Amino acid sequence: MRTLITGPTGRVGSRYVRRQLDLRRPVRVLVRSEAQVAPWWNGGAEVTVGDLREPDTAKRALEGVEAVVHIAAAFRGVPDAEAYAVNRDATIALAQAAVDAGVARFVFVSTNLVYGPGRGRPAGEGDEPRPAGAYPVGKAAAEVELLRLHRERGLPVRIARLAFVYGDGDPHLAESVAWARRWAPHRRLHLVHHADVAQALDRILAAEGVDGQVFNVADDAPVTALELLRANQEEPDPEAATRRLDDPWEGIVDTCRIRTQLGYRPLYPTLYTAQAAGAL
Ligand SMILES: NC(=O)c1ccc[n+]([C@@H]2O[C@H](COP(=O)([O-])OP(=O)(O)OC[C@H]3O[C@@H](n4cnc5c(N)ncnc54)[C@H](OP(=O)(O)O)[C@@H]3O)[C@@H](O)[C@H]2O)c1
Repeated sequence: MRTLITGPTGRVGSRYVRRQLDLRRPVRVLVRSEAQVAPWWNGGAEVTVGDLREPDTAKRALEGVEAVVHIAAAFRGVPDAEAYAVNRDATIALAQAAVDAGVARFVFVSTNLVYGPGRGRPAGEGDEPRPAGAYPVGKAAAEVELLRLHRERGLPVRIARLAFVYGDGDPHLAESVAWARRWAPHRRLHLVHHADVAQALDRILAAEGVDGQVFNVADDAPVTALELLRANQEEPDPEAATRRLDDPWEGIVDTCRIRTQLGYRPLYPTLYTAQAAGAL
């Protein structure tokens, strides 16, 4: 299945595409500039150049592909207007073009931040999202519209809500120190290793009969801020220990659906297994 993968220059996309190419899968990537083409072209991927906010990009990128894994997003240090333009508007435009092009699969990479706090238990895919902030609000709005396109126009969408992604040399874990130091040390964060993101996306992409479904993607053991800091050889701020937690389940998701329906079992079920395997 020739698959268009957006966001191949990003943290998730670069690692996912490399795994696809290692498996000799037919891949087309969308990059934003000519300067980003060479490594992918030389690595065996077809390349389309274009910005998803431009009206003709989606149609050109989709020509001759059977599936889409839409990973591209704008959320690190971008103005809110850009976050909405890419994460919501350009995602919807890509999905509409995918319907017109008749693709067989459309995987949308979303975030577990769409859930928001306040449930007092792990968030499940059936829970109504309560996003806050431009990035989660834009992603949640795109999800709603893609599910509507599924119901009304048959978009074969599957949504993957990722936890905090780490591993394979991604600086994300080290960057977490900046805020984890101020968290209550017992506040937890749900993680997922890049290898398991790839496994999950492959399972979601390949599964039959799951159009219109949402899947949480995370590992088996959320880490505390204390563990996160210690994995980075750091300690919490002294006053952090006095911080109260209003919802100890904020950011924690239920992964039963992907486990039972798609057979997902994390290769790195905990941060410690990834650490021991030298996979950070
Ligand atoms: N990393 C995590 O912990 C995490 C957690 C949950 C969900 N996710 C989801 O995973 C996906 C990837 O995240 P990431 O951490 O890999 O992000 P990232 O490193 O910021 O990568 C974003 C990618 O999107 C591309 N992009 C941005 N704006 C674009 C546009 N207008 N047109 C075309 N491409 C555009 C970027 O291209 P350039 O190189 O040209 O900028 C880059 O390839 C996102 O959908 C995010 O919501 C990530």
